[in-house]
Amino acid sequence: MPVSLKSDEEIASMRVAGRLAAEVLDYVGGHVRAGVTTGRLNDLCHDYMVNVQGTVPAPLNYAPPGYKPFPKSVCTSVNHQVCHGIPGERTLKPGDILNIDVTVIKDGYHGDSSRMYFVGEPSIQARRLVEVTYECMWRGIAQVRPGAHLGDLGAAIQQCAEHNGYSVVREFCGHGIGRKFHEEPQVLHYGRQGTGMALEPGMTFTIEPMINAGKAAIRELADGWTIVTKDHSLSAQWEHTVLVTATGFEVMTQSAGTQPPPAIVP
Ligand code: MF3
Ligand code: CO
Ligand code: CO
Repeated sequence: MPVSLKSDEEIASMRVAGRLAAEVLDYVGGHVRAGVTTGRLNDLCHDYMVNVQGTVPAPLNYAPPGYKPFPKSVCTSVNHQVCHGIPGERTLKPGDILNIDVTVIKDGYHGDSSRMYFVGEPSIQARRLVEVTYECMWRGIAQVRPGAHLGDLGAAIQQCAEHNGYSVVREFCGHGIGRKFHEEPQVLHYGRQGTGMALEPGMTFTIEPMINAGKAAIRELADGWTIVTKDHSLSAQWEHTVLVTATGFEVMTQSAGTQPPPAIVP
């Protein structure tokens, strides 16, 4: 399947879906605190999506080939969990770092975004990992323009991570998005400048680097979903859905609570 280029009408729908995903992240951020369970955060997101927004939580029962259906409406990944954490009975405690990954479907189109949250005060090391990972995502986003290659994004992200002493998770990548949750192309978070597919206006994809404080190696838990660092080092991830425009990029997953880009981005 080739990469789909979105029409102006489709782009308008994607903007709505993207904003709604970001608004779930705004909303749930007000509920992240010590003592709350990840299951409770899931339920708050689910009810907000279904009852307030009229969106469909894309993760719920999502079952790519080889996976059992994902049982919840968002992913919650704590500390050394890299991604795809299943919300449940775990109670957040002061110093935890948490990724919440939200994907909504609105009028047939997907919006996919994740953010990091601090529970109370993080350690200096945890704060630095979260901030550097945000910079890594933005270094990737800043490469997006017609004619750029996917390898340019990957190289920028990898360089940012490794210059800071961190490593990039290889097994999971960003992805095209639209009517389908995961479409082509695959957007690797490592690579070499000038390699890979050339970008064209109308492409929509996510950039969602997973950065480990220690080694890159991961393993999957017995629940069939949760990914953790093999060395138990902390891991962080941020995700935006972006559009390739005639002159550069547009971030589609924006809301009132979206953090501004870091100072390095022109
Ligand atoms: N939202 C994740 C992504 O960014 C995918 C989660 S799949 C799920 O691609 F089934 F775990 F929800
Ligand atoms: Co996501
Ligand atoms: Co994604």
